[in-house]
Amino acid sequence: MSVSADGTRAPPHRETARVFFALWPPKEIARQLAGIAADFSQAAGGRPTRCETIHLTLAFLGDVAVERLPELLRVAKEVHAAAFDLTLDRFGVWQHNHLFWAGCASPPALLDLADTLSKRLLEAGLAAADAKRPFVPHVTLVRKLVRLDVALPAAQALTFHCGAFVLVRSRLSDKGSAYEVLARFPLAASQR
Ligand code: 2AM
Repeated sequence: MSVSADGTRAPPHRETARVFFALWPPKEIARQLAGIAADFSQAAGGRPTRCETIHLTLAFLGDVAVERLPELLRVAKEVHAAAFDLTLDRFGVWQHNHLFWAGCASPPALLDLADTLSKRLLEAGLAAADAKRPFVPHVTLVRKLVRLDVALPAAQALTFHCGAFVLVRSRLSDKGSAYEVLARFPLAASQR
C-alpha cells in the first residue's frame, strides 16, 4: 500500500503517482555530468545516473493520488520566481546514503524558487512527510556506491540557464527509475 503526500495511507484502489519538481539541465550539461558519473562509478562501483534522467530536485512529493495532479499543476503555475543561471562547481560523496553528487553554491534565486514551491505545497496539503528537511541542492550522479574513499574528480564549473522547472513522474522498475515530464513551468526572465 502506498503513502500519500499528506502522510495518510492511500486506499489500494486509488491510483497514485510518485512525483517531484526539478530543474532539468540542457542536454550538453547532462552529457558531461553523465560522463563524470560513468567514470566515477568505474572506480567506486554503484549505479551511475543515465544522461536522460539527470536532474536537480527542487521538491520531492512522493506518492500523490492521481486525482490530485490537476491541483498540483495549479499550485505550481502560481509559483512566481525569477529565471537564473546555475553553476555546478563541486562534487561530493555522502557516506550515509552512498551517493556521489554534483553541487552548487545555492544562488538566492534557486533558494527562493525551492522555498516558494515547498511553502505552496505545504499550504495545499501536498508536501511530502519529510518536506521540512533543509533543501540541499544536488544532482545525484551515482547511487549505491561500493567504495566511499575514491578521490573526487577535479572541480569544474558547469553553468546553465534555468528558465523553467518541471513536474516529473517517476516509475520504478528493476532497471531503475523511468521519468516522465508531466508539465513545464516557465520562470520569469530576470529584470528585477
Ligand atoms: P536523490 O537524488 O538525492 O536520491 C526522485 O527520487 C528525486 O527525488 C531524486 O533526485 C531524489 O533525490 C529526490 N528525493 C528527495 N527526497 C526523496 C525521498 N524521500 N525519497 C526518494 N527520493 C527523494
